[in-house]
Amino acid sequence: MKQRTTYWPPEQAEAGVREAASVLANGGIVAFPTETVYGLGADARSAYAVEGIFAAKGRPSDNPLIVHLADAESAIKLAERVSTLERKLMDAFWPGPLTLVLPVREGAVSPRVTAGLDTVGLRVPEHELARELIAASGCPIAAPSANRSGRPSPTAARHVLEDLDGRIDGVLDGGETGVGLESTVVRVLGGVVHILRPGGITAERLREVVGEEAEVRSEAEASSGGGQEPPAEEAPRSPGVKYAHYAPRGVMVLVSGDPEKLPAAVQAAADEARARGDRVGILACGENAGSYRAAAVIPLGPRAEPERAAHALYAALRECDDRDISYIVAEEFPEAGIGAALRNRMLKAAGGRVLRA
Ligand code: TXA
Ligand code: MG
Repeated sequence: MKQRTTYWPPEQAEAGVREAASVLANGGIVAFPTETVYGLGADARSAYAVEGIFAAKGRPSDNPLIVHLADAESAIKLAERVSTLERKLMDAFWPGPLTLVLPVREGAVSPRVTAGLDTVGLRVPEHELARELIAASGCPIAAPSANRSGRPSPTAARHVLEDLDGRIDGVLDGGETGVGLESTVVRVLGGVVHILRPGGITAERLREVVGEEAEVRSEAEASSGGGQEPPAEEAPRSPGVKYAHYAPRGVMVLVSGDPEKLPAAVQAAADEARARGDRVGILACGENAGSYRAAAVIPLGPRAEPERAAHALYAALRECDDRDISYIVAEEFPEAGIGAALRNRMLKAAGGRVLRA
């Protein structure tokens, strides 16, 4: 599969949206910015177009795609039914980084989108270019993150080109994405809002909206053995979570524990790896970054502002690849707010390797 990839620069966004929309309407695949990460879009109703996404990304075909829509009304048309609680979540968080998994209405999208499941992930993005593209194309747009499968999600158009140049029809450059991590994926089942993937909308914000009406439960909590959760097989699962996502090329370890002890533990891990012959990178909060010695030290922002680290993480992982880093030592950030999603992605990038400080 070889094709020419058109690049539409930010200065020509208007013409870019028009051209990209017509590519989509004709069964092509184009990457576009959202407020979370760049997506790789295709007409969700066309099996041919959607097939193009899986081929370009090298994505396993049992991992379903999220469908992007202009508003809640268009989203509801693709669902078999929507409960009052689900409608409440739509009204509270759309447009924005929340994906709702709903029973799919038969024939509404290609079965390639849902990977044969009887549910579909729906989201109304907030990014202006994404919204214009959806409106101009007239398509429900199926879009996973616009990276090669297994690579960190793209937060800039150049990341998309690094991975997919020559494999997709085009990329609309809208500058760096804001949130920097993917949307929160939720499924409402039996009065429980299950967070299948933590993301831009935090559990705290979901709880504020849901109030007494339902419990909000995250995968992480459900698997930590709190005692009250149902057996694991009853919890809904997101097919994508089983894949090793967000991975840099080097081996990564997350250093966790007492913030006072973190710096010494991080430097010790880095020194050990260097002694073994590794080229070492350190991902750290701004306060600590200056004191580390390694081939690459990448500050992710102030420790108390996890949203800055969320915004910077994927680009930092790609920078480690660009600089031939073979071993990455990453500092843990506090878990409040988007810190939970940040920790989730760091753990995935680290393949679950955690070192206690
Ligand atoms: O922020 C985002 O969500 C970005 C932008 C482009 O919108 N998209 C994104 O897509 O991250 P992707 O394909 O990289 O991740 C989609 C996740 C996967 O973990 C997938 O398994 C899950 O959503 N998902 C999609 N449809 C689902 C369904 N019907 N049931 C359960 N999980 C689903
Ligand atoms: Mg992805």
